[in-house]
Amino acid sequence: PPPSMDVLRERHAGLRARIVGGDRAAIERQHRLGKLTARERLDLLLDEGSFVETDLYRRHQATGLGMGDRRPHTDGVITGSGEIFGRRVFVYAQDFTVFGGSLGEAHAAKIHKVMDLALENGAPLIGLNDSGGARIQEGVMALNGYGGIFRRNVRASGVIPQISVIMGPCAGGAAYSPALTDFTFMVRGTAQMYLTGPDVVEAVSGHRVSHAELGGADVHGERTGVATFVYDDEETCLAEVRYLVSLLPSNNLEPAPALPPTGAADDERPRLAEIVPVEPNKPYDMHRVVEELVDGGEFIELHEQWARNVICALGRIDGEVVGVVANQPMVLAGVLDADAAQKAARFVRFCDAFGIPLVTLVDVPGFLPGVEQEHDGIIRHGAKLLYAYCEATVPRVQVILRKAYGGAYIVMDSRSIGCDLSLAWPTNEIAVMGAEGAVNVVFRKQLAAADDPAALRAELIAEYTRQLVHPLFSAERGLVDDVIDPVQTRAAVARGLAMLRQKRGAAPQRKHGNVPL
Ligand code: COA
Repeated sequence: PPPSMDVLRERHAGLRARIVGGDRAAIERQHRLGKLTARERLDLLLDEGSFVETDLYRRHQATGLGMGDRRPHTDGVITGSGEIFGRRVFVYAQDFTVFGGSLGEAHAAKIHKVMDLALENGAPLIGLNDSGGARIQEGVMALNGYGGIFRRNVRASGVIPQISVIMGPCAGGAAYSPALTDFTFMVRGTAQMYLTGPDVVEAVSGHRVSHAELGGADVHGERTGVATFVYDDEETCLAEVRYLVSLLPSNNLEPAPALPPTGAADDERPRLAEIVPVEPNKPYDMHRVVEELVDGGEFIELHEQWARNVICALGRIDGEVVGVVANQPMVLAGVLDADAAQKAARFVRFCDAFGIPLVTLVDVPGFLPGVEQEHDGIIRHGAKLLYAYCEATVPRVQVILRKAYGGAYIVMDSRSIGCDLSLAWPTNEIAVMGAEGAVNVVFRKQLAAADDPAALRAELIAEYTRQLVHPLFSAERGLVDDVIDPVQTRAAVARGLAMLRQKRGAAPQRKHGNVPL
């Protein structure tokens, strides 16, 4: 006979108590390492009392290598759905206290199910990763399970936001799911990502390296760009995931959640004129400019420590979510290089996929010159950013603060590649190249033949600057819509975004473009 309700209730309570994690020792070890259990993490991530669990009873069917005697419910991953600030999300949280959070057939099937539900319901997917990887005892079925996750990640890409949070090991094939999602969070000290671990690296290369040195949060936050966000502890990390979700649309058909307008269209910002020096080569911190432009000075920056010469951030202007791409004159004088181009390209594509308008703040002397950059394929990587902007159909506002030279001018959302509204500060320089370089190229012969080359050079530089290097040259030719007072920048951007709110971009029919990868 079927069990009575009392028996079911009892069993359920017993299960819940037990599957807070694996055994007590494993939970204690987790806490000792500064890690929370999967359920504790979900409690922090989701609105209180909102969690609906799926597949609570699921367990593996493997029998080999002693697995027949160890069949805990949940199979090492907690799956389901809940709310963040009242908005639906789907989640999975790997439980390291059960089989080291390793992924077998049942574990994978549970993840597949919430991924399918997330896509069908048009809600973000958040995966909390803490796992020893493919469950060795389940052999190729574990690998098959990963493949199913990757395929679903790609199917959902550009349809629902996908967020990976790494809170422990994430090794081998497992690392590819975060790499396919939109955002990867890592916790400093406890999270690691690598394809082959320290032991294999040592066996192959003889080089001894620690887990953190190989694939810790700082390595991926500063050097590889694999981590979008790095935080010191799990509580902060999960709070920031909640903040990020509050800025994202639930899916590609819905707008990002707006707050009431803040009156930005009438907002003067006198500090802008103080923050940005008039001299074109004097550094300043572009973060301060972004703070002046967005509501409440509040934004979340992606890849804060990687490719710092470009800033990518999400914030709000007049209550509406925007993506900000900005050159950072404080780092490498704000030039574009291979990493910066890749970072900005992926961000532009994310914003475009999810209907988030783009505000591009330009202060760029050019691309970084150098053998290393050229040999690293700056042409290929720079093309990614160019492609991303050319393809983007969301509202696009460009502000040129001080200077925009050469190919970098074109790439930073110039009119020619599709920006809708271009605003320039009066002091700025937009040109093919700086005056000195230009004069040396164009008047090489005259300068060589001159009696007083220095005087002639000075004269030609002044003439070149007068004729070509001022924003009105661009404005008269339709490349700049307006030359604005810097203090009016926030207001002008807000009005521009309001003007473009109904924009519907249409792209020609095709299977997909061939973005340079
Ligand atoms: N398959 C099956 N079980 C696994 C596992 C895996 N891939 N990874 C970890 N486990 C189990 C361990 O056997 C251990 O089980 P036990 O508690 O019954 O002894 C438990 O998870 C905890 O693992 P442990 O090794 O004690 O934790 P750790 O913190 O010292 O090390 C790792 C964590 C991830 C570095 C280590 O477990 C590891 O190297 N795992 C294998 C990684 C791998 O190569 N995966 C396959 C490639 S995708």
